[in-house]
Amino acid sequence: MPRLPKNFYNPVSLIGSGIALVSFGTVIIFFLMDVLGYTQSPYLGIFTYMIIPAVMVFGLLLIPFGAILERRRLRKHGNVPRRYLVVDLNEPTHRTAVMIFTVVTMLLVVVSAAGTYQAYNYSESVEFCGEVCHVVMEPEYVAYQHSPHARVSCAECHIGGGADWFVKAKISGAYQVYSVMFDKFARPIETPIANLRPARETCEECHWPNVFTGVKELAKVYYPIDTTESEPWTIVMNLKIGGGQSELGPTTGIHWHMNTANVVRYVATDQKRQVIPWIESTDLTGKTKIYRSIETTVEDAELAKHEKRTMDCIDCHNRPSHIYYPPFRTINDAMALNRIDSTLPNIRALASVALTNEYRTKEEALRLIPSFVRRELRTHAPNVLRTRTNDVDRSIREIMAIYTRNFFPEMKVTWQHYPNNIGHTYDLGCFRCHDNKHVTEDGEVLTNDCNVCHTIVEQGPTSNPQQNIRGMEFVHPADIDGAWRDVPCSSCHLGI
Ligand code: HEC
Ligand code: HEC
Ligand code: HEC
Ligand code: HEC
Ligand code: HEC
Ligand code: HEC
Repeated sequence: MPRLPKNFYNPVSLIGSGIALVSFGTVIIFFLMDVLGYTQSPYLGIFTYMIIPAVMVFGLLLIPFGAILERRRLRKHGNVPRRYLVVDLNEPTHRTAVMIFTVVTMLLVVVSAAGTYQAYNYSESVEFCGEVCHVVMEPEYVAYQHSPHARVSCAECHIGGGADWFVKAKISGAYQVYSVMFDKFARPIETPIANLRPARETCEECHWPNVFTGVKELAKVYYPIDTTESEPWTIVMNLKIGGGQSELGPTTGIHWHMNTANVVRYVATDQKRQVIPWIESTDLTGKTKIYRSIETTVEDAELAKHEKRTMDCIDCHNRPSHIYYPPFRTINDAMALNRIDSTLPNIRALASVALTNEYRTKEEALRLIPSFVRRELRTHAPNVLRTRTNDVDRSIREIMAIYTRNFFPEMKVTWQHYPNNIGHTYDLGCFRCHDNKHVTEDGEVLTNDCNVCHTIVEQGPTSNPQQNIRGMEFVHPADIDGAWRDVPCSSCHLGI
């Protein structure tokens, strides 16, 4: 005696319920594995919350689909009268069907609400963004883990709150999954991101302009190429990071640009926003000034074709989380921390060459870096290798660690592809605008005064630096005949 209406007994519905049952069981098992922490695989989430539920829904849809087909077939053979569906609760088969339908639907609603919530959480998780597409996202993910934002989730900067950006992110996310599957992505990934949410809507969730006050100390020790000939050089400066509070009226400081009363708009003629021929600044009183680069050859008609971008946080902080440091900077900082031993002969240059040699893969680099450094030391300083094994090993380990954090040959990522707009030493950064070459019609020059953004309070050889709390004129550590006054720092300081 059949327990369901006849047309439910057909191969399609049967296969459908089979699929649904098996995938339901799998989801439950995987879900428990995930919750109980049996496995750390990032793929588990994709299967548990995305792929298998989709299969389950497919199976469930097959059941009524099969039933409809079967009904048509039976009707063709004259076994069913032509009428609309009648539910008669006095019929035991109908009763069972209604009961199964109600229970399963209720179960589904509950499970899919929980599932949707999990799927949502999962698609926003750092795990999903950073680990699933591990080759593609490796550079961003690794750099992120070593950044000040290592505990801020990817979605908090890349999506933020609200439904509209959530939907936009999922649409572009679907395209990204496609481009990874069919190998259509650029290596390295292009920057800046074309449709990044305006930074003021994301960054300001945590850092709002009113908290930008005072100064921030930047203290550095720089190691010379040959530590046996000259001594390290110290620079301590106060960065004037204030300027955000409009309540205080006209304020000064670096975050002046972000004071909501001031608006800076600019035109960049290159994709990475490094060449800026036109800048417009509007202050508290609504007074507008237009600065043009005296070096530009771009005509007004050409300028009009470009986007006039309103400056926001990422025009300076374009690397808040994915920072690929130039080798010189990381080597120097590791020497200051004595992770790379500054007394090893010629170690700064050796480390620099070891890092910037061409490697095809990370494995190859990590294999060749130690042998390169040892070989060089053996040829030029054989007894060092014998007598100071520990110092050599420690330094090599650090060079390899620097490589792992900052170089990604599979994605062709190095500091060179991603200019950092904070500062001006290795990239143009602030000097894209503050270069002494942007002038208004009245002849006002956009400032390049070394004391506008910071004051140097200490500088000189580390054993005997000069100090002055009121600030002092910059002394370039190497004798370059005052060239730093005329040439941007980054045209000599390439980071190597
Ligand atoms: C503190 C905010 C922040 C966090 C957290 C963050 N990002 Fe970013 N991300 C940015 C900014 C800003 C850019 C550069 C935007 C630009 O210049 O257009 C960027 C750029 C990128 C790019 C484009 C390539 C590049 O380097 O410019 C990728 C890919 C990316 N992020 C992935 C991730 C992933 C994956 C995570 C989490 C593991 C993450 N991001 C976390 C702010 C963040
Ligand atoms: C969810 C909160 C959150 C968001 C969103 C966020 N940050 Fe942060 N940010 C932090 C935390 C936490 C720190 C570390 C605090 C500290 O070091 O004092 C930090 C530190 C920083 C620092 C100091 C870094 C340093 O070297 O000390 C900068 C600059 C910064 N954030 C810029 C940004 C920018 C730009 C954005 C938007 C793209 C952003 N943040 C978005 C929480 C956030
Ligand atoms: C897109 C061009 C642009 C970039 C890039 C830029 N600035 Fe500015 N900056 C301006 C303009 C325009 C003014 C306002 C000048 C005026 O009209 O008074 C300004 C003013 C300033 C002031 C003076 C504010 C005051 O009146 O006290 C400081 C300090 C400053 N910028 C620091 C920086 C720093 C630091 C960087 C790099 C991290 C930077 N700027 C990058 C365009 C820029
Ligand atoms: C004109 C360039 C510029 C703009 C625009 C800008 N910043 Fe900054 N910001 C700086 C510089 C330069 C520093 C100091 C250097 C550093 O910390 O690396 C700094 C420092 C910070 C710090 C660290 C402060 C501390 O006490 O350590 C935070 C947080 C920050 N900025 C957030 C933001 C946010 C959020 C925005 C957008 C509302 C923004 N900034 C816009 C240039 C800028
Ligand atoms: C428009 C603002 C601005 C102007 C003008 C400016 N600087 Fe800077 N400078 C910065 C910022 C911002 C940093 C910090 C970057 C960082 O956080 O690493 C910096 C860093 C430095 C450093 C430390 C270098 C490093 O990266 O280790 C030196 C030295 C320096 N500046 C010298 C000068 C000299 C000399 C001048 C005048 C020719 C000058 N600056 C003009 C904004 C400015
Ligand atoms: C004409 C080329 C040139 C220009 C322009 C230049 N530098 Fe240098 N700089 C050098 C050379 C060469 C050295 C010494 C070689 C070395 O130790 O790397 C040096 C050394 C330094 C050092 C000591 C640590 C180091 O990197 O070796 C600092 C800090 C520095 N320069 C900052 C600046 C700043 C800031 C500017 C811009 C205001 C600037 N330089 C402009 C060529 C230049």
